[in-house]
Amino acid sequence: MDKFITLGVESSCDETGIGIYSQSHGLLAHRLFSQVAIHAEYGGVVPELASRDHIQRVLPLIKAALEDAKLQLCDIDAIAYTAGPGLAGALLVGAGVAKSLAWSLKIPALGVHHMEGHLLAPLLEEKQPKTPFVALLVSGGHTLLVDVEAIGKYKILGESLDDAVGEAFDKTAKILGLGYPGGPALSKLAEQGEEGAFKFPRPMVDRPGLDFSFSGLKTFARNTFIKYPQQKSDIAKAFEVAAVQTLMIKCRRSLEQTERKTLVVAGGVSANRALRQELGKMGQKVGVEVFYPRTEFCTDNGAMIAFAGHLRLVKGQATAANEIVIKPRWNLEELVAI
Ligand code: KG4
Ligand code: ZN
Repeated sequence: MDKFITLGVESSCDETGIGIYSQSHGLLAHRLFSQVAIHAEYGGVVPELASRDHIQRVLPLIKAALEDAKLQLCDIDAIAYTAGPGLAGALLVGAGVAKSLAWSLKIPALGVHHMEGHLLAPLLEEKQPKTPFVALLVSGGHTLLVDVEAIGKYKILGESLDDAVGEAFDKTAKILGLGYPGGPALSKLAEQGEEGAFKFPRPMVDRPGLDFSFSGLKTFARNTFIKYPQQKSDIAKAFEVAAVQTLMIKCRRSLEQTERKTLVVAGGVSANRALRQELGKMGQKVGVEVFYPRTEFCTDNGAMIAFAGHLRLVKGQATAANEIVIKPRWNLEELVAI
């Protein structure tokens, strides 16, 4: 088992990601191709174009990652691929390639939950969080607060009832004419904004519970922009402060409720600087340590899929041999403990 090597394939949305993870040496290589330029002119991900591009990219990326790791295909012991949640056509590309390769190499394959990939990404770093912990998963498709008793044992404490927070960043950025994907652009513009110029609501913080709602913030941004079209950066700032504080308040509440002393934050929006600052301050105040993936592993990547799959594959948790399984909708709580 010492040298057990897992190849990971991510293709759930608009990034083709490959990772190679070894039991003895950790992450050996990872490669990424982002389709941002392809979808930018449409202002959002076009599923059919995403699938077509994954097909073009996946094999060359696998070849490049193998070369980076100085390995050959026959050195791979198992294959992990993202089975869901995500775009069905895009998922089928990764699943089809992964299963076909596994079949031809006579090695096991496993369908990984994309959000478990994000959740475990901080474990790729030298300083790792230890279970139990609370995880805040913030991406373009999901906003989840998860109680992690052990790896694979997940209880959803709260989630977004409408737009995911990354989606709200993207939609607000679009309203302000910032292009796609808007999250990082909006955050950059917010740096020039004046704090307090506008006060946006903190949705659902007055109600008990840990669910989120972000679609109202986007509407608030639209209405403010119609009235004050000259104050783009102030609107960006007000939006970001409101979103970040709402996330912080719910994180603090979930930590009080569960009495966990560790918070893990992952998914695309965990790259956001204002969020990191706010959670850092909160963590210090309440004596909670906060962990993140390195910035490049906050957004979608193949390394996290190789790693999450590896943990299960070394324990023999492969998917049935001849099935190409995808789960475009998939609840994290359905996973089994590792
Ligand atoms: O995890 P991810 O790469 O893909 C999904 O699984 O959805 O997350 C992408 C999301 C997008 O909505 C993007 O705008 C947002 O993460 N994002 C950010 C930042 N970087 C990425 N949002 C705010 N600030 C950022 N720095
Ligand atoms: Zn993601």
